[in-house]
Amino acid sequence: MTQRKPIIGGNWKMNTGLESGMHLAGCIVDGFTCGDCCDVVIYPPLPFLQAIESVIDTSELQLGAQNVWCEESGAFTGETSPTMLQEVGVKSVLVGHSERRHVLHEGSALIAQKVAFALVKQLQVVLCVGETFEERESGNTMKVVLSQITSGLANISSEQMVNVVIAYEPVWAIGTGKTASPKDAQEVHVAIRKALGEMFTEEIASQTRIQYGGSVNPDNAAELFSCEDIDGALVGGASLSAESFTAIVKAAYNP
Ligand code: PGA
Repeated sequence: MTQRKPIIGGNWKMNTGLESGMHLAGCIVDGFTCGDCCDVVIYPPLPFLQAIESVIDTSELQLGAQNVWCEESGAFTGETSPTMLQEVGVKSVLVGHSERRHVLHEGSALIAQKVAFALVKQLQVVLCVGETFEERESGNTMKVVLSQITSGLANISSEQMVNVVIAYEPVWAIGTGKTASPKDAQEVHVAIRKALGEMFTEEIASQTRIQYGGSVNPDNAAELFSCEDIDGALVGGASLSAESFTAIVKAAYNP
């Protein structure tokens, strides 16, 4: 890890209830003592955001949303605007998560619109990218990941990049217990950083944080974080246990 401040996200997906989510958030607050060492963002289910914010609002933890829409208001049944999220304390949004790309069939044009609009509204955007197993097997990892980066950030100015975090999450590693080897992950992170340098500037590339995601747990986190270009993790399953998540957070600032 470098001088970039590590960032750990806990993506709860469609898990927890209201009470169990508030309890989990409280335990994470209790275990997180060094806001200067690391940014920690939790992404609870949408209906619980306000309640979870009431648990974490005086702590160093930040609130994130798993999704966002690309318009301010109007006839978009079931969607939520950046301003609505901000009103309940949301600071960060996930865009382009593999489950939204592959299960809900969100395409690259919509993802680019969401990234652009959320940034205009001053939210932090975590743009998730990653290849499927077939794409990796056929040698297309870099091609796929870099095209997701290029299209996802197509409408973004250099100034807005300060609010962008990239999450590299190989689809085959998400929720499967299989993790990319630190070497393979580092290789993709380097390629992403190089692409950011070409799209924006070298300085922006070196300042942008790139998280790894896909079956990160307390046993593999430290080795992943010891790679120079891995600046933290987006954690799914292991973020549902305060003990595991806290151990991963600690590994990020003491790899
Ligand atoms: P996982 O999920 O840690 O359960 O693999 C990661 C993610 O989907 O962000």
